[in-house]
Amino acid sequence: MNKLVKKAKYIKGEIEIPADKSITHRAFMFSALTKGKVKISNFSKGKDCLSTLKIIEQLGCEKKYINEKEIIIDAANALKEPNTLLDCGNSGTTTRLMAGILSGQNFNSKLIGDISLSKRPMKRVIEPLSMMGAEIIHNDFKLPIEIKGKKLNAIEYNSPLSSAQVKSCILLAGLNANGVTTFTEPYKSRNHTELMFEYMGADIKTQGNRVSVKESQLMPVDISVCGDISSAAFFMVAALIVPNSEILIKNVGINETRAGIIDVIKSMNGEIEIINERLVSNEKTADIKLRYSKLKGCTIQGEIIPKLIDEIPIIAVMATQAEGKTVIKDAQDLRNKEADRISTVKKELTKLGAHIEETPDGLIIYGKTELKGGCEIECCHDHRIAMSAYIAGLICKEDILIKEFEWVDISFPEFSNLITSITY
Ligand code: S3P
Repeated sequence: MNKLVKKAKYIKGEIEIPADKSITHRAFMFSALTKGKVKISNFSKGKDCLSTLKIIEQLGCEKKYINEKEIIIDAANALKEPNTLLDCGNSGTTTRLMAGILSGQNFNSKLIGDISLSKRPMKRVIEPLSMMGAEIIHNDFKLPIEIKGKKLNAIEYNSPLSSAQVKSCILLAGLNANGVTTFTEPYKSRNHTELMFEYMGADIKTQGNRVSVKESQLMPVDISVCGDISSAAFFMVAALIVPNSEILIKNVGINETRAGIIDVIKSMNGEIEIINERLVSNEKTADIKLRYSKLKGCTIQGEIIPKLIDEIPIIAVMATQAEGKTVIKDAQDLRNKEADRISTVKKELTKLGAHIEETPDGLIIYGKTELKGGCEIECCHDHRIAMSAYIAGLICKEDILIKEFEWVDISFPEFSNLITSITY
């Protein structure tokens, strides 16, 4: 489906962002490990999370919808050997976290995925899982992978990558391994797994970038999922770059290991106000007000990168409207996402009229540039590229056409309705 985007006069209104994708994946998977019933309120309906939901059903969970926003996962008969392949669709999080869960079970399973996921690197989880004694059959560390489940042994793993997917995989394997499993990473990545483990009673300790977990049974406790800051990011940037805009975004997760974009907006001189802070199932949540602002360029590098890794495409759009140079470094893992997000952002924003350079580990954006548009954008099967292009389209002089816009359904099927509801 192609999407035509026209220049907006302004953005105004109050919206609520749908549930966090990372936390929903975890809520589904961790519920499956409780042997009990868990009510999950406000879960993500993106295709990625639905892939996870389907897999836990194939592993013996039963689901019951209470209403549109609430679901009960009954894990009384889980986990058990699936009689079909487990399809992770487009979702790296499903694959890598499930690999950690499945490696320590007393049955075999096989994970598959779509064309894009089947090209993404799985060595980052297969290697440490193998160190724990896992038996995983693969071809060049890519999907499909066959997992011969067995009891695992704890390890102390020093990860070369700062990755919440790798960390969560190892911690999930550690729940079911003899001894204490420890994971250390160079910079701290999102800690939703640690917070939810704590919330569900696992024996877990965190000290800076080092986390340890002992063999534990997760308890069935009800979970509420806050709104997704990675989805909110598109609206935050829209308000900051479309003249005369002002919005209030309600119920956004602002966990500091995810909220790097808030710091970036502040250092770019964006008008942002965080109000009504509270805890939702152990996750910091707030409402966020934003106003159109005169932005300035900045440098984004080092330990903040994992805290905004998924927001870099939309931050690049924002940087085209900032006075001066914005430099993004240390983000080489962006090349391993749903698309190579460094080269795709450079290519597609250049088409729109941005002045942007690609480096091996990031981007350099020179602003402020008037985006002229009047072209077609390829989202390269990547939901975040599609939505970033849409927001850029709101300030382009001429209409743009985004091809295969249906890819947004991976994380944010409500995007089009929500953005249209506040665009004038
Ligand atoms: C995720 C972690 C990040 C992120 C992805 C979701 C998670 O990946 O890019 O969209 O839910 O753990 P990495 O941890 O591999 O960087």
